[in-house]
Amino acid sequence: MLTQPPSDQLYLQPGPSAIQLCQPTRPVTCIKVDFVTGRQAHRRRQLGHRREAIAKACGLGQADNLHIVDATAGLGRDAYVLAALGAQVTLIERSPVLCAMLEDGLKQAAAAGLEPARERMRLIEADANVWLDDPRNQSSIDVVYLDPMYSGARRAAAGKELALLSALLGSGNETEQLLEKALVAARKRVVVKRQRRAPALAGRPPDHQLTGKSTRFDIYQINPARTVDSAEY
Ligand SMILES: C[S@@+](CC[C@H](N)C(=O)[O-])C[C@H]1O[C@@H](n2cnc3c(N)ncnc32)[C@H](O)[C@@H]1O
Repeated sequence: MLTQPPSDQLYLQPGPSAIQLCQPTRPVTCIKVDFVTGRQAHRRRQLGHRREAIAKACGLGQADNLHIVDATAGLGRDAYVLAALGAQVTLIERSPVLCAMLEDGLKQAAAAGLEPARERMRLIEADANVWLDDPRNQSSIDVVYLDPMYSGARRAAAGKELALLSALLGSGNETEQLLEKALVAARKRVVVKRQRRAPALAGRPPDHQLTGKSTRFDIYQINPARTVDSAEY
């Protein structure tokens, strides 16, 4: 058991409400999975007022009880919004550290009574490239959602939180191969979150785009009529 945080490497520590991942260089920055307070609570309050673009991109509202696989779960924020809006969400995350934080976040959500959204979230620690390839997992997937890490300068511009995530995950988090797997596994569509001006993942043009101020959702229909359209949200 450490009595002092290390000065030269990332560390996990229990926080007042959740496990936190911290980097020690000053100013110390920590991140946590938090479905209950802060930004996520604000987003939850807005759900009734404003239709989330992510929900539109995933086709929520067009079908009941959609099963969405968030194949790059990260801190679970997008997955939580989808679950709060009624989807069954399977979260796949390959980093054991992030999985431990997600598990902790789900426990806190249960303790705070955030049902039924929490009950609609199922966490699996796995490499989504492998998980999506397994025919036993493919039978019930309506939508695969991908939110790849930004790369290079985009990552640097995205702030302290992403810098911490990329210090944890290192390089090799490209998700181009995942798009191919997702297109085979999903029955209805694959949705990829991109920065507004980033090129399409793997250079593959989407069928539809929903573009906001800083982000964009690229939508790949399964068996689409091949007309490309785009809209602002
Ligand atoms: C930008 S973060 C996603 C953030 C997330 N959308 C959120 O709302 O918090 C990308 C995550 O994808 C994960 N990831 C990348 N490739 C993966 C793979 N093949 N299988 C599972 N997880 C993967 C990374 O470990 C990282 O946590």
